[in-house]
Amino acid sequence: MYPESLFAVRAEGMNVWMEGDDQPYLDLVMGYSSVNFGHCHPVIIAAVHEAACALDQIHAFHTAPQLELSELLVRALATQGDYKVYFDVGGSNAVAAAVRLCRTFTRRETVVAFEGGFHGTGHPAASLSDDRLLDKKQYGEQLSPNVIKVPFPDYLVDGSLRAALMSLETVLVNKAAAAVVVEPIQGAAGFIVPPREFMQELQCLARRHGTLVIIDEIQSGIGRCGHFFAYQRSNIESPDVVVVSKSLAGGYYPLSAVIAKNELFSTVPSIGTAFQSTFNNNPFGTTIALRTLEFALREHLFDKAKDHGAELLRELRSLLCPALTRLRGVGLALAFDISDSGRPAPEWAKLFVACALEERVLVYRSGVYRNVIKIAPPLTLDGNDVETIITRLRAVITRFKKVCIA
Ligand SMILES: Cc1ncc(COP(=O)(O)O)c(C=O)c1O
Repeated sequence: MYPESLFAVRAEGMNVWMEGDDQPYLDLVMGYSSVNFGHCHPVIIAAVHEAACALDQIHAFHTAPQLELSELLVRALATQGDYKVYFDVGGSNAVAAAVRLCRTFTRRETVVAFEGGFHGTGHPAASLSDDRLLDKKQYGEQLSPNVIKVPFPDYLVDGSLRAALMSLETVLVNKAAAAVVVEPIQGAAGFIVPPREFMQELQCLARRHGTLVIIDEIQSGIGRCGHFFAYQRSNIESPDVVVVSKSLAGGYYPLSAVIAKNELFSTVPSIGTAFQSTFNNNPFGTTIALRTLEFALREHLFDKAKDHGAELLRELRSLLCPALTRLRGVGLALAFDISDSGRPAPEWAKLFVACALEERVLVYRSGVYRNVIKIAPPLTLDGNDVETIITRLRAVITRFKKVCIA
């Protein structure tokens, strides 16, 4: 994605320094949303020290941070229901655990996922991911045949909500599905935003058919979209299963969590349970996560992300040119497409990333056509940070327009 000569040696806030170079790069990728609170934040570094000095891996016992973190995550759902939390390592594993939970509970096999969705590269998360985002040939025969894909709605495309819900209904009528897996805002597809009512209608539809909904918040959650969980843009009561990871432990440990209704966990056998791995419930990860989330809530960082995101979106609108289209954003998950006469232009997007590097700005191409540029600054923006980002992006776009026209 970037020249091999670049070696990252230090990072702080939204700056990254490369070897042999005094001038930092402005990071608008933030570890694909795994560093939502900025690089090497002092509060998180203190949590890392605290965690490292207290306990290493203790598997068979509860620890206070683990229980407090579970409580915090369940409170964040803001619902009356009873929930339990399972801590794993990495997003893919958490998605796999969520799917196992739904299959065990419903005694059904089929799982429905969305076109443009990305849920990881492990098994069965890979089966649920869009073929355009993951080269499935690498998996041989291993991918699950019990996955059905339906279209995902996009608030910028008229009629896409009805079409998506109708496709989903057709599938659920014809097949008893264990679960529908959904990103409330699609991440790898390029921050594709569905109409607000989508999540609620999806939940109603699934409930009518006895199908559980797994909400994959691995990229959209932990404040990225201006809420603790992005699904909270919609009015959803008692979600069945919510999965988080990435920024959960501030970027220092790949902690993931499956937050699910008690009744789902109660069907899991205690002997030979599939809900165990050497590093699950890791005290290092859960301690860092607890302190990180306490800090984010104390500082109202999720609300601030909403305000800063709205400001950035407004300013970005004035920078657009005909090749930069479909600007969208929720919280600090912003993106635009790069198109040529209305068609995706992946080569131009490549050029855009190169122009950004020239201006010492880190962005990357994503989307099913590799023509989307995502802007994902840290939630810890303050003072003149929005102005700095806009000034730097203006320089990138000016350079891009010159190269593109030439
Ligand atoms: C929405 C979503 N789900 C799952 C994953 C997989 O997480 P991991 O890479 O930690 O396995 C990702 C990774 O980008 C993601 O964006």
